Amino acid sequence: MRTAPPLAPCDHGRVSEEQKKADNRARVTTDEFRTFVKQGWAPRPDTRPDLSESARYAAPRRDVVSAQYPGERLIVPAGGLKVRSNDTDYVFRPHSAFAHLTGLGADREPDAVLVLEPIFDENGEPAGHESVLFFKPLADRESDEFFDDARYGEFWVGARPTLEDIEAELGLSARDIGEFADAAVKDAGRTTIRMVRDADRALTAQLDQARVENGQADDGLADQDDDLAHTLSHLRMIKDEWEIQQMRDAVDATKVGFEAVIADLPRAVEEGRGERWVEGVFGLHARHQGNGVGYDSICAAGDHANTLHWIKNTGDIEDGDLILLDAGVELDSLFTADITRTLPASGRFTDAQREIYDAVYKAQQAGLAAVRPGNKFSDVHAAAIRVIAEHLHAWGLLPDGVSVEDTLDKEHGQYHRRWMVHGTSHHLGIDVHDCALATRDEYMDAELEPGMVLTVEPGLYFKADDLLAPERFRGIGVRIEDDVVVTEEGHENLSEHLPRSADEVEAWIAEVQSR
Ligand code: GLY
Ligand code: MN
Ligand code: MN
Repeated sequence: MRTAPPLAPCDHGRVSEEQKKADNRARVTTDEFRTFVKQGWAPRPDTRPDLSESARYAAPRRDVVSAQYPGERLIVPAGGLKVRSNDTDYVFRPHSAFAHLTGLGADREPDAVLVLEPIFDENGEPAGHESVLFFKPLADRESDEFFDDARYGEFWVGARPTLEDIEAELGLSARDIGEFADAAVKDAGRTTIRMVRDADRALTAQLDQARVENGQADDGLADQDDDLAHTLSHLRMIKDEWEIQQMRDAVDATKVGFEAVIADLPRAVEEGRGERWVEGVFGLHARHQGNGVGYDSICAAGDHANTLHWIKNTGDIEDGDLILLDAGVELDSLFTADITRTLPASGRFTDAQREIYDAVYKAQQAGLAAVRPGNKFSDVHAAAIRVIAEHLHAWGLLPDGVSVEDTLDKEHGQYHRRWMVHGTSHHLGIDVHDCALATRDEYMDAELEPGMVLTVEPGLYFKADDLLAPERFRGIGVRIEDDVVVTEEGHENLSEHLPRSADEVEAWIAEVQSR
């Protein structure tokens, strides 16, 4: 049986990590000053926010979940503040399921918990759920929190919404987080509770204990909860019209970042530590256009492009290098683009770079052509990887006697994976690798359906020390990644307006740098 501290209301948010600090820099706060600082502030505006557009689309999602779990209490925490060091927190990001079901994005709201509370009719039959958002509402100026709490107090970190603000903005009931413990455990013996476990480990441990104490079986809890997590992940697979617009906007914002990088490429080469320069320029525009980057940007020059998760970005960019930029702007809604362009720092591909680039481009064309309803998700990879395998075969890189069919054989082949190890596609949305808990049947083996948003991103990677690669290819890595939405007819490439073929990329660089 798990052990955890007793569940108790807490006066300053319940799930954030504790900050460690001493009072070695504290100044004297007299009672006189404390009284003084709480007074003399203009009344707060009494206007309420309008119902947000994102909340309008969140409500029907909650209805779907409600219908799936009649009579059960469903708990979806946002998560809490995480300590970066000592008394400094990371920027808060809500759990993706919480964002999807509330419509809250950006950095909102630490320590909040969405509860879908079951409703029963007069016969005791389940009759839907009431959505209640427990969170830490704005405290009065007269409260101790206002000045004394540097982590949550309005004086230090700005105003939060009130209960009334959240009810108006989200169209659901709001309650103080201090009431959550009682509300969440009440009837726990008679009401099945499911919760999203990974949003906050401490809260999960506390609820596990409460559920066991109230008669639920200890060993079934995680499975029961995982079923909810799976449902919420799969719920994001078909995007509604608002989500598709978010993806469109995220892609458009990302184009701004890519063009800013292109404009600054000569400077990035000149300054040294050019990968950092590129990361910074893209990051500036990601923050300016949206909430920030949707994932750590990969700014990989030369051989670094062959390290697939190169997020250190510590290298120089030399004039003859390709720079592989894999980056996406995340909007305030948390929807993110995920785009890769591989750009010659000089503005011109060398012959060897172009040879590889053209192969990847053809593979991507084949992958894109396979994005249509009726095809399986896995068909996209199959189409792209066949083109990759054909090129590797034509270049004489597969082992002697190994044909294209041999290498594509899933049981005995796969030699091509030395140079293209990753999948060609993934779902994209609030998470860069969205719908991560969907089953293989629902994901890889599922048919594509209108409203799905996925990447198509083949690549070829020849490490500098790969003695099996032709010398002219060594140290060159190329990926081309676009974001597409499946339509009734086939697909729409949302990032089509970022040039892709080698000629188009060269012309794009020249055009952007001549502005
Ligand atoms: N940037 C992560 C990916 O392309 O999947
Ligand atoms: Mn990417
Ligand atoms: Mn991707």
